[in-house]
Amino acid sequence: MKSLFFTFLASLTLAHANPLLEARGVCNADNCARAITGSAAQQALATRQADCSAFLSPFPTPTVPAYASACSGSVRYSSACACLGYTASPTHSCLSPAQATSIVNTFASLLTAPQAPDFTSKANALLADSFTDTSGSINFLAGQNISAVTFPSKAAFIGGQGAQPPIPSLTTLDIFYTCDKIAWRWVAQGIGSDQYEVKGIDTFTITHSGQISAVFAEFNSGAWLADIGNPQCHSSTS
Ligand SMILES: *[C@@H]1O[C@H](CO)[C@@H](O)[C@H](O)[C@H]1NC(C)=O
Repeated sequence: MKSLFFTFLASLTLAHANPLLEARGVCNADNCARAITGSAAQQALATRQADCSAFLSPFPTPTVPAYASACSGSVRYSSACACLGYTASPTHSCLSPAQATSIVNTFASLLTAPQAPDFTSKANALLADSFTDTSGSINFLAGQNISAVTFPSKAAFIGGQGAQPPIPSLTTLDIFYTCDKIAWRWVAQGIGSDQYEVKGIDTFTITHSGQISAVFAEFNSGAWLADIGNPQCHSSTS
């Protein structure tokens, strides 16, 4: 059960997306640039490089350092950073709340409706070609090498998860996300005898195009085994 986000954009796209970054990437040799590139610099090169790098990072919010006072604003400072070889491309765009929720809901639907006619098309749209899914909990339930990657490919997930019985009830307890990762806490109910609920946590790595490239999922496999009648206890007595 198992399965994040992050986007590389061309500097041109970025300029359209963020007016703050407009005109970045163009080196204008002026007093501002000289304060950054060295001929009039008051700071060590490593400091100036680090400041440009941080400024051109999409997060956190960029600030123009005090020694760059000759640069009247962020556009001229970014030009000076370009003179030093730092430009704003590539960069990431971050997950929105709606995207994070949609990714979680779509993945959950693969677990609650693995036999649905659109299972494969949904999985193909949601999962990146480089997809892997690693879960010691699933490996344990399946009697496989606990340390191994559970589904080493998208095709393996589609074949494996697609053959599972549906999880009758899967409720989201919480979603946490960064620009390109999601953590999802969930509780499953209705498995087997439904004696125990099963709680778990999935983390997703999300590609620039919004697909899940990696899942790490762990859950209470002891409760799951009890719900399905502890088959591991019977197998050795037959
Ligand atoms: C189990 O998987 C791990 C990680 O892939 C691997 O290093 C180890 O050799 C495997 N063990 C067995 C017994 O196959």
